[in-house]
Amino acid sequence: MKIYLIKSIKEHFSIKLFVVFGLIAFIISCFFTGIFLFHQSNQLNDANLKKGLFQVKALAHNARIGVFAENKELLDAPVEAISHEDEVLEILVFNIDGKLLKEYRKQERDTGNRVKRQGDIIEKDVLTKIRDAMGPVYFEDRNGFDFWAPILSTSSYAVPASHGLEDILKPADNRLIGYAMVKVGKDILNRQRKELLITNLILLIIFLTASFFASYFVAKGMAKPLNRLMDGANAISKGLAAEKISVKTRDEVGLLAEAFNNMADALRIRENELMAVNRKLMEQHEQRKILSKRLIDLLEKDREQVAMELHDHVGQVLTSLKINLEIIQGQVGSYNPELENKIIESKDRAIQAIRDIKDISRGLKPSVLSTLGLVSSIKELLSDFEMSTGMDVNFFTHNIPSMLSKEKELAIYRITQEAMNNIVKHTHATTVHVNLVMKDHKIALSIEDNGTGFDPEKIMENTHGQSPFGLLIMQERAEQLNGEFRIESETEKGTYVSVEIPV
Ligand SMILES: Nc1ncnc2c1ncn2[C@@H]1O[C@H](COP(=O)(O)OP(=O)(O)OP(=O)(O)O)[C@@H](O)[C@H]1O
Ligand SMILES: [Mg+2]
Repeated sequence: MKIYLIKSIKEHFSIKLFVVFGLIAFIISCFFTGIFLFHQSNQLNDANLKKGLFQVKALAHNARIGVFAENKELLDAPVEAISHEDEVLEILVFNIDGKLLKEYRKQERDTGNRVKRQGDIIEKDVLTKIRDAMGPVYFEDRNGFDFWAPILSTSSYAVPASHGLEDILKPADNRLIGYAMVKVGKDILNRQRKELLITNLILLIIFLTASFFASYFVAKGMAKPLNRLMDGANAISKGLAAEKISVKTRDEVGLLAEAFNNMADALRIRENELMAVNRKLMEQHEQRKILSKRLIDLLEKDREQVAMELHDHVGQVLTSLKINLEIIQGQVGSYNPELENKIIESKDRAIQAIRDIKDISRGLKPSVLSTLGLVSSIKELLSDFEMSTGMDVNFFTHNIPSMLSKEKELAIYRITQEAMNNIVKHTHATTVHVNLVMKDHKIALSIEDNGTGFDPEKIMENTHGQSPFGLLIMQERAEQLNGEFRIESETEKGTYVSVEIPV
C-alpha cells in the first residue's frame, strides 16, 4: 500500500500536486487552529479569573458591614447571591483574626482546598499575599481557583459593577478587617475548553475537507493539460497522428502546448516527406530487383548460349578434326613414324580440347542439376575442384529436399561455384569445408576456407557498380529468393561465406 502510494506520487503529477497542496493546507490549518485555540483558551481563562476576582471583591465589599459588626446574619445576603453561581463551590469569610465568620459549601465533599485551614486559621502565605497586594489574589490547583480578597474598613468600591476595581484601594484610608474567599471549580471552565476544542476540531475538519477538495480540483486542473501533452507525445512515439492540444492559458503550460503543436506539425510534414522518399526508394528497390533478376537471367541465358555454341559448333569441329586425324593416321600408318607421332599428338590435343570444352560447357550450363539433382551436382562440382586444384574439399550435407525449385537449385549451385572459383583465384587455401543443410525451413549453405582472407566491407564498397561482380551476384542471387547472404573474412584467417534461402 505504502509502496503503491509512493509509486503513484512519483508517477502522477496530479497526485504529487494534490499531496503538496494537501500538506500545505494541513499545516496551515493546524497552525492557525492551534493559534486560535490557544488565544481563545487564554481568553476563556482570563474571563474566568476576572469573574472570580470580581466575585470575591464584591463579596469582600458586601461582607464589610457583617465582618465589622461581627454579625453573621449580615453576611448571608452576599454569600447567598454569589452561591447561586454554578461554578462557585465554596465561600468563606474570616475576620482579621482568621476566625471563620461565614462558610458555604456547595457539596459535602472534599473541595481540595489548596489553603488548608485548621479551625479558623488561614495559612500564612495567603495572608502575606493579601496583605502585600491589599487587593484580590487567587491560587489555582487542579480542582479550581481560590479567590481571596481583603475586607477593608472603608468601602472604596464606587459601584461594584464598575470594572475599575483595581484602582479603588487606597491603603492609607483603609484598614484590613477580614478576608473573603470564593472557591470556583474548574468543571465549567474545563467543559468550555472542551467545547472550544471540539468546535475548533470541527472547523479544522471542515476546512481540511474543503482544502483537500480544492487541492484535488486545482491539481487535476493543473495536470490536465500536461496529461494531454503526454498523451500526444505517446501517440507520436507510437507512430500515431497526434491531435492538436488546446490549452487556453498563456502561461508556461500554454506555451509548452503551443510548442508541442508546432513540433507535431513539423513532425507530420517531415513524416509525409519521409514517406514520399520511402515510397520512391521502395519503387527504386523494386526496379533494382527486377533489373538484377533480368541481369542474372541474361547472364544465365548468355552462359547457356555460349555453352551450346561451344558444344554444338566448336565441339563438333574438334570431333570431326579428331576423326579426320584418325583417318590420316590410318593412311599414313607406319610409313612415316615421325608424322604418325605428330598426328597422334594432335589427335590427343583435340581429345583434350573436346574434354575441356565439355567441362567449360558443363560449368556454363549445369545440365547435371536437372539430371542428378542439387546435392549430387554440388558433390561433382566439388570433386572436380578437388581434383583440379589438389585442395582438401570436405562436403557435408543433410536433409536437403529433392524437390527444390529450379531457381533455388541454380542459385545455390552458382553461389557454390563462384565461392569455389574465388578460393581458387584469390587464396592459397589448402582446406575447404562446404555445408549444405536444411534448418528452420531454410536451405543453409556455407563455404569456409583457410586461405588468405580479405576485408569484405572494403571490397563490397568498391565493387558496387563496377567489376568484379562475383560477390555482388552471389548476394543478388540470394536476395532474389528472399534469402540472406553473409560473408565474414579476416586477413590470414580465411573466409566464411554463408547463404540462407527460405524453402
Ligand atoms: N575466398 C576468398 N578469399 C580471399 N579473397 C577473396 C575471396 N573471395 C573473394 N575475395 C576477394 O574479393 C574480391 C571480389 O571478389 P569477386 O568474386 O567479387 O570478384 P573477382 O573474383 O575478383 O572477379 P569475378 O568474380 O568478377 O571474376 C576478389 O578480388 C578477392 O580479392
Ligand atoms: Mg569471383
